[in-house]
Amino acid sequence: MNYRHAYHAGNHADVLKHIILARVLDYLRQKEKPFAVLDAHAGIGRYDLKGAEAFKTGEWKDGIGKLLAEPLPPEVRVLLQHYLNMIHDLNPDGVLRTYPGSPEVIVRLLRREDRIFLNELHPQDADVLAARYSGDKRVRVSRLDAAVAVKAELPFTERRGLVLLDPAFEVPDELNKTLRSVKHALERMQNVTLLIWYPLKAPDDAKDFLRGISDFNQPGTLTAELLVKEPFAEGGLAGSGVVIVNPPFTLRAELERIMPALARRLGLGTWGRGSVSVLTPPK
Ligand SMILES: C[S@@+](CC[C@H](N)C(=O)[O-])C[C@H]1O[C@@H](n2cnc3c(N)ncnc32)[C@H](O)[C@@H]1O
Repeated sequence: MNYRHAYHAGNHADVLKHIILARVLDYLRQKEKPFAVLDAHAGIGRYDLKGAEAFKTGEWKDGIGKLLAEPLPPEVRVLLQHYLNMIHDLNPDGVLRTYPGSPEVIVRLLRREDRIFLNELHPQDADVLAARYSGDKRVRVSRLDAAVAVKAELPFTERRGLVLLDPAFEVPDELNKTLRSVKHALERMQNVTLLIWYPLKAPDDAKDFLRGISDFNQPGTLTAELLVKEPFAEGGLAGSGVVIVNPPFTLRAELERIMPALARRLGLGTWGRGSVSVLTPPK
């Protein structure tokens, strides 16, 4: 396992993923009933943007750095409120240094009665996570392969909740492995909301994966894609997408406001593209 998220923390892909994650959690919090979350590829929870790894790539400058550089239109800002507030709270002096990973985004939006399972296969990262959240009774850390964690934790006893699948894409068959985890998750808990991140490098990279997602026929499945530069073979990460299975019914309209604004802000030159697509029609 060579992948270390610290090199990429706060980049355009993280911004997209964490904004959508915060929107879905905001919706789950609106009902009184408790919910649970499985973050199946959790990373270390928080990242130091002035640390050696983030400093080396500087990826965050074209992600969260650009997002915060100027005020956002008010109708977009209001949808990003939770996400922007937590970045502000983590960096109270206004100098961007600490970026929240998905565990931190989730923990900050959990209520007292909600629970989170943080799963991370890398032993050192799992140790960091376990130490970071050791005082929080809502948090449990596991060190399983993500596919095993999905089978172990679902269905949630709460009968409502969210699973984030955010693989490192170090192994060639990762998208098919992810499709199998989606299948297992839906077999165990048909109403669970799933967020699945995928990279966009060359055009049509994700075509088969998205067809595989559509084949599950979960009504209303969406995908939101953000491209920051032109995708071409060997061109590196041009953008990414997040599939949302069983999305909140409010999410599509929200993403239709958010995605063009992200593309305008994070696109390189005039290249930004932000889109929302319906993969399976709603009921
Ligand atoms: C993209 S990073 C996760 C970032 C995190 N979700 C966030 O948004 O802050 C992927 C993580 O998955 C871990 N990982 C790699 N293979 C895994 C596996 N088979 N099962 C669980 N975790 C794995 C990596 O160590 C890495 O920390």
